[in-house]
Amino acid sequence: MTSLLTGVVLILLSVVGIVSAGTDFTGDVLRLPSEAYKFFHGGDNDEVEGTRWAVLIAGSNGYWNYRHQADVCHAYQVLRNGGLKEENIIVFMYDDIAYNEENPRQGIIINSPHGNDVYNGVPKDYTGENVTVDNFFAAILGNKSAITGGSGKVVDSGPNDHIFIFYSDHGGAGVLGMPSPPDLFADDLIDVLKKKHAMGTYKSLVFYLEACESGSIFEGLLPEGLNIYATTASNAIESSWGTYCPGEYPSPPPEYETCLGDLYSVSWMEDSDMHNLRTETLHQQYELVKQRTNNGNSAYGSHVMQFGDIGVSKDQLFTYFGTNPSNDNFTFVDENSLVPPTKAVNQRDADLVHFWDKYRKAPDGSVRKAEAQKQFMEAMSHRMHIDNSVKLIGQLLFGIERGSEVLNAVRPAGQPLVDDWKCLKKMVRTFETHCGSLSQYGLKHMRSFANICNAGIQTEKMAEASEQACVNIPSGHWGSLEKGFSA
Ligand SMILES: *[C@@H]1O[C@H](CO)[C@@H](O)[C@H](O)[C@H]1NC(C)=O
Ligand SMILES: *[C@@H]1O[C@H](CO)[C@@H](O)[C@H](O)[C@H]1NC(C)=O
Ligand SMILES: *[C@@H]1O[C@H](CO)[C@@H](O)[C@H](O)[C@H]1NC(C)=O
Repeated sequence: MTSLLTGVVLILLSVVGIVSAGTDFTGDVLRLPSEAYKFFHGGDNDEVEGTRWAVLIAGSNGYWNYRHQADVCHAYQVLRNGGLKEENIIVFMYDDIAYNEENPRQGIIINSPHGNDVYNGVPKDYTGENVTVDNFFAAILGNKSAITGGSGKVVDSGPNDHIFIFYSDHGGAGVLGMPSPPDLFADDLIDVLKKKHAMGTYKSLVFYLEACESGSIFEGLLPEGLNIYATTASNAIESSWGTYCPGEYPSPPPEYETCLGDLYSVSWMEDSDMHNLRTETLHQQYELVKQRTNNGNSAYGSHVMQFGDIGVSKDQLFTYFGTNPSNDNFTFVDENSLVPPTKAVNQRDADLVHFWDKYRKAPDGSVRKAEAQKQFMEAMSHRMHIDNSVKLIGQLLFGIERGSEVLNAVRPAGQPLVDDWKCLKKMVRTFETHCGSLSQYGLKHMRSFANICNAGIQTEKMAEASEQACVNIPSGHWGSLEKGFSA
C-alpha cells in the first residue's frame, strides 16, 4: 500500500507540481461615458428582437467535480445580471455541492478564489436524478410532454428568439458525461439541434461547451446553415482544464480541497462579468477566451475551437447574455490583457487532486485520512484497470504490435470520430458489460472504441476480447456498473 501510494504521489507531482510565476487575473477596461459605445458601434442598438433563452447544464456530480456546478451557477448569475428572466433560463445541476459535507461554506458555491456566492437564487429546475439526457434534449426542443420530473421548464421559443446553451463536465471523444446514465452522444445532440432548427423556433443559437476532447462533439458533425455558432474548450484530441485548484496560483481559499472552476468557463464568464456586452462580439470573446485557455501555450492549456456558422459570431454578446447595467462604462477593449492563470489541472486528474489534498491535510491517524487514502487508491486502481483492459483488448483484436497504433489513431481534421454511432454505442456497452463502468476517467478511451468500429470489428469479436481481457473488475465506487453510461 505504502509503496503504491508513493508511486502515485510521484505521478501526481508531475501532474500538478510545477508552479510558474504569474500575475493575477486583471482586465484592462476603458472607462467611457455610458453612451460612448454608440459612437463606435453604429448607433442605438439597445433592442434585440425576440426573447433570450438559455439552457445551462452541469453533467457531473460529486464534490471532486465542484467546479462544473460552480461554472453553471456562475453562468446563471451572468445571465440574470444581464437582464434575462428566470423563466427563460433552464438549469440542470445535480445540486449535491452547496450542502455537501465536504463544502467548507455550507449553502455557498464560489467559482473563483475571491468570488461571491454564485449559488444564491439558482432555480432547481432539474436536479438529482432528473438531470438526464432525455430531459436536456426535451428542454432544448421545448417539448414539455417528453420531460420526466423536474420543474417542467423548457425553451418555449419562437422564430425571433436567441438561445444560449452552456454545458460543463467531463467528456471524451464523441461523448459528454451525465450524472446518471446514459451519457450524451454527439450524434444525438446534433440531431436535436437539427430538429430545433427545422422547427423554426430560433433566430440564432450559441453553444459554449466545456469538456475534454470537446471539439469532437462538433467536428465534422455540426453543419453550416443552422444559424448555430459553437465554441469548445478544447480540440477533438486533448483534455480541457480545471482551474483555481489546490496548489495552483491563484489557489482556492485553503479550506477548499477542490478546483473551483474550469479554465475555458471562467474565461468567458469573468470576461462577461466585467464588460458592457453591447461593445463586445462573440468573436471578440472567442479570441480572448482562446488566448486565456491556451495558457501561454503551456502544457496546462487547451485549444479553444469554433464550429458551425462562424458569421453568427459577429453578434454582440448582448444578443444572448444581455448586459449588466453597472458595466455600462466598461467598454470592451480589443487588446487581450487577460493574463492567463499560471497553472491548471487536467479535468481527468481533478478528482485525484481532491483526494490527495484531503489526504494531505487530514490529521495523521484520523478516519478522514484513511477515507481519503481509500478513495485515492480506488480511483487509481480503477484507472489502471480501465487503461490495462483497453490496451489488452487492442492487442487481442489487432495484435501486440498494431494494437495501440489502431486504438490511438486520429482521423484527419474535419472528419467525425466515427461513421457508425450505433456501433460505437454498442462497443461501449460491450466493454462495460465485461469490464465494468468506464466512469468519468474512462471516457478518455472513447476514441479507441470508435477506432474499433472504424476497423470493422464485429460486436461478437469485441465481446470475446473483453471477456478475455477482463477476468475481474475491481470493487469500489468507480467500478460499479451503475455509474456506467450504457443503458
Ligand atoms: C414530444 O415528445 C413526445 C414524447 O417523447 C413525442 O411523442 C412527441 O412527438 C414530441 N413532440 C414533438 C413536437 O417533437
Ligand atoms: C425529480 O422531479 C420530481 C418531479 O418534479 C420531483 O418530485 C423529485 O423530487 C425530483 N428529484 C430530485 C432528486 O430532485
Ligand atoms: C457612467 O459614467 C457616467 C459619466 O461619468 C456616470 O454619470 C454614470 O453614473 C456612470 N454609470 C455607471 C453605471 O457607473
